[in-house]
Amino acid sequence: MSIKPKEKPKSAIKPMYEPTTTHQKPNPENLPFSDTLRSEPLSADTAAVMLVTGSAKRIGAAIVCSAHAAGYRVIIHYHHSKQAAAALAETLNRQRPYSAALIQADLDIVNDPCALARFTEQVIAQFGRLDVLVHNASRFYPSPIGDISAAQWQELFLTNAKAPLLLSQSLLPYLIEQQGNIISLLDIHAHDRPFPNYSVYNMAKAAHRSMVQSLALELAPDVRVNGVAPGVNILPEPDSDQTIAPQIQDAIINSIPLQRIGRPKDIAQCVLYLATADYVTGHIITVDGGRSLTLAGNC
Ligand SMILES: NC(=O)c1ccc[n+]([C@@H]2O[C@H](COP(=O)([O-])OP(=O)(O)OC[C@H]3O[C@@H](n4cnc5c(N)ncnc54)[C@H](OP(=O)(O)O)[C@@H]3O)[C@@H](O)[C@H]2O)c1
Repeated sequence: MSIKPKEKPKSAIKPMYEPTTTHQKPNPENLPFSDTLRSEPLSADTAAVMLVTGSAKRIGAAIVCSAHAAGYRVIIHYHHSKQAAAALAETLNRQRPYSAALIQADLDIVNDPCALARFTEQVIAQFGRLDVLVHNASRFYPSPIGDISAAQWQELFLTNAKAPLLLSQSLLPYLIEQQGNIISLLDIHAHDRPFPNYSVYNMAKAAHRSMVQSLALELAPDVRVNGVAPGVNILPEPDSDQTIAPQIQDAIINSIPLQRIGRPKDIAQCVLYLATADYVTGHIITVDGGRSLTLAGNC
């Protein structure tokens, strides 16, 4: 499948969000390309552009790879994983020159309007446009009641709810320009089936889920907004503080009707579908091997 730039008519409705002074389209020649592997400001390519937050590794990287294989130009955002992000961009640029760019940021930039405006300019400067914004970056760890700190609240809500909303707002003029779309990575535990001991994460993802539905209404007909709710699609990395013991892994697999842990590419396929599903908005697709059908809340 090859992605051509969309030639949709501009909406007859005046966009609610006119570019403001901070959102003026930047001249790419004047902007710093501090963390990009591209050596030229703009590609002659006119393919659609997808930004995936937190995409150096795991599910985010799978989304980037699938989108790139489908013809998108991709912007790989990362926070700490510089090496992995650079290696991914290099591989993709070898396949198709000037098709992958890198951008580094802690998503706490959303707490500072100037830093957020700079980030927005840098994103647009990569290829001069943005068609699809994928909110993938996340923090995930337990916060048992009795032990919850304000710092945990801040961090889990920042990555899983606040940053997606404020990034969407900041990049909106550019998404409207392309009649583009926003896709959020949620969780089957964001709704009805809370993950025990993860109340703050569950609450933050629930807020993010509400963002998808709220913005889908508010931004129609210019920008579509959808979500993907994974079940267990990749286990925590072996060296992380979230390692899952083999017997628990077996219990998880047994709880999944399709009898396997999902793969990052299962999520990527769904993201690609939503990116091009022109008549779908405000929808959340569960990709969990059927797990949520059997889940009482635990395991
Ligand atoms: N894994 C699953 O099975 C599963 C299940 C349900 C839902 N999900 C959702 O699917 C998405 C992807 O899952 P995943 O397991 O692949 O994600 P992940 O590895 O836990 O996190 C993705 C990336 O988020 C970035 N990130 C974290 N805090 C950040 C911050 N303050 N600023 C900027 N970036 C930050 C990290 O980037 P750096 O590495 O560059 O620091 C990290 O690599 C998440 O939204 C997750 O909640 C996943």
